[in-house]
Amino acid sequence: MSRVFVSQEIVDEALEEFEGTGITVDLRRDHTPLPAAELRAAASTYDGLICLLTDRIDAEFLAACPRLRVVANVAVGYDNIDVPAATRAGVAVTNTPGVLTDATADLAFALLLATARRIPEGDAFLRAGRYTHWRVNQEQMGVDVHGATLGLFGLGQIGRAVARRARGFDMTVLYHDVQRLPAEDERELGVTYAEFDELLARSDFVSVHAPLLDSTRHRFDAAAFAAMKPTAMLINTARGPIVDEAALAAALREGMIAGAGLDVFEREPEVDALLLELRERVVLLPHLGSATGTTRREMCRMAARSVRDVLTGKRPENLVNTELADRLVAGP
Ligand code: GLV
Repeated sequence: MSRVFVSQEIVDEALEEFEGTGITVDLRRDHTPLPAAELRAAASTYDGLICLLTDRIDAEFLAACPRLRVVANVAVGYDNIDVPAATRAGVAVTNTPGVLTDATADLAFALLLATARRIPEGDAFLRAGRYTHWRVNQEQMGVDVHGATLGLFGLGQIGRAVARRARGFDMTVLYHDVQRLPAEDERELGVTYAEFDELLARSDFVSVHAPLLDSTRHRFDAAAFAAMKPTAMLINTARGPIVDEAALAAALREGMIAGAGLDVFEREPEVDALLLELRERVVLLPHLGSATGTTRREMCRMAARSVRDVLTGKRPENLVNTELADRLVAGP
């Protein structure tokens, strides 16, 4: 009978997905990631793995787990997994798209608003007992979000959900993506395609919604910040390494751009010390994109369903390495 290892604490309710299948699940009741060698040792005899984005699944890990047939990442991004190596090893990789789209778009918008209107600064000011009277030139003077131009770098499901929210704020929405939408979809969504440089030059807010790939790593570097408006703000809820964090800190300090709202970091959970020093118009969050109870529960359930499906001879709903699809389906 198949056995599944869960590398870190998840929402227990998700394990209901295995009921009646005879699959045994061993849940590691700890919310810290295991060091690589310990993860290899712990998972080495299992057929299925449910893991988190803080677990690195590379060729060495796969070689140590010869029985493994499926790795389900409880995240939409899967840059922590060497997918070509998994495909070579015949291991199905799945992620959790869709169920976290709206929660992540909500958070991106919250971060944009918090940065533009300096909400954490206002909160800290009040709690410090410094709010003595209302004044015209308020300390936390912000910039308008309504009517501003938003540039979306990446227009997948989350980028589109952010575009829909931006319409409610009467924003002009530009996007840049490797794939341009058909004109009709652009019209319906109310977005206009822009080359990367144009997106940078015209946007008041640039929000990152692309996956981390070789082609997107450090796409936001010193040259990109130099091309942005000095009043512009960068919002990142995607993956930290898409932004060169040291270059961002320098750009903020030198006034090349005006602010940043970041939910992800280049060497997460570490944050560039220079960024931590910047308190005005810089909002830093601990990777909260999908952090609502409902969303995290659905992500865990989806990951559990994927593992169950592969181990019972079905194609999972969210297979990443689709090359393996035919091999996953049990014969008659
Ligand atoms: C979170 O960052 C995710 O990829 O789901």
